[in-house]
Amino acid sequence: MSQPLSAIPTRALVGAIRVPGDKSISHRALILGALASGRTHITGLLESEDVNATAKAVAALGAEIRHLNGAVEVTGQGVGGLRAPAKDLDFGNSGTGSRLMLGVVAGHDMQARFTGDASLCRRPMARVLKPLQRMGLSLTDDDRTTLPLTIKGTSDLVPIVYPLPVVSAQVKSAVLLAGLHAPGSTTVIEPLATRDHTERMLTHLGAEVSVKDQDDGRRAVSVRGDAELAGASITIPGDPSSAAFAIAAALICEGSDVVLEGVLMNPTRAGFVATVHEMGGDVEMLDLRFEGCEPVADFRVRASALRGVDVAADRVPSMIDEYPVLAALAAFAEGETRMRGLAELRVKESDRLAATAAGLAACGVETVIEDDDLIVMGKGTVPGCGVVKTHMDHRIAMAFLTLGLGAEQPVTVDDIGMIATSFPAFVPLMTKIGAEFR
Ligand code: S3P
Repeated sequence: MSQPLSAIPTRALVGAIRVPGDKSISHRALILGALASGRTHITGLLESEDVNATAKAVAALGAEIRHLNGAVEVTGQGVGGLRAPAKDLDFGNSGTGSRLMLGVVAGHDMQARFTGDASLCRRPMARVLKPLQRMGLSLTDDDRTTLPLTIKGTSDLVPIVYPLPVVSAQVKSAVLLAGLHAPGSTTVIEPLATRDHTERMLTHLGAEVSVKDQDDGRRAVSVRGDAELAGASITIPGDPSSAAFAIAAALICEGSDVVLEGVLMNPTRAGFVATVHEMGGDVEMLDLRFEGCEPVADFRVRASALRGVDVAADRVPSMIDEYPVLAALAAFAEGETRMRGLAELRVKESDRLAATAAGLAACGVETVIEDDDLIVMGKGTVPGCGVVKTHMDHRIAMAFLTLGLGAEQPVTVDDIGMIATSFPAFVPLMTKIGAEFR
């Protein structure tokens, strides 16, 4: 049954909060922990449905997972040491969990059936299957390119050099994870830098990873195969994609002054904050430091008058999941914001390009989709009053609840159920700083 929720226009948001652990890094900590020998001790793991699905999958493949006083310990089986699962691996809504695990299972002599919810079963898997098939993975049904899929891995994978046809950290990571199991060096060449958490964590656990910026501007990322990984401690910083909602809310609610503690500040994820600065947003970065293998900072955000900007397509990888909330923010700016090159948004948990434009229209904001660009006509204020369809998409739900906090009239989203996939504490945390929902 769907659960609608309305965001009530709110005055100042005030206080300090810590958003939960980064989703991308949480998946990788569980997966690499399962491939390492011995124990990996994880603090700050995101507890959400997507990450739980990955935890269940690695447990079904033979890793042991224990919850200890707020931390999680994974006892891994070593690279190539996982066993065939007794039943289907169900990844729920998670593209990251399923795609990265395709790369892991590819390197094991086993058969496994991958499945997920209705949204995940619509999402393209060929982007991952193609390079993995070149390495030796086979499918029981060669014509299928969406879940459910039954795959057969092999302990005789061959290494490849793979120029990415789509700019995707998930595809890069799936190939690198498979490459751990192949002899020699496996290389992925990316046209634009995508999130590099897999590379950082692999290095942290003892794999040999090299990253080279080529003369043609592309980046070659290689991992040495037949690798040995050793369990270690991993600290997971706050998720910048979750922080983006609180940042946006503080910028648009008059009089706000909010501190966000311990947010991941990896340059491959920093596009949203950079764009907000260009729009005139008062987002101050405090105490940049390292936690584990990742840079982290606190942010102080104050309500700001914003101006429309032109967001270049090369910024897409560093803020791919933040476009719905950026579009919501752009509605409060003065002037036009053009977000270029958003083709990949069409194949996320929903068609986010269409869902964002339709949601803005329902709230009285003029938008245009021109090829793969989204244009939002900012008027400084937003009427609100709409009912927004979320299409089983957590980020659409949170982006429009955020918009409703700054609008003139409440905004209702048709279903908040999916928020649990990435940010179950969204409503209580936002309420803590003064947001009102009904
Ligand atoms: C992710 C990569 C991105 C992002 C997703 C998480 C990851 O997807 O949208 O939410 O953890 O690697 P793509 O790699 O498909 O762009």
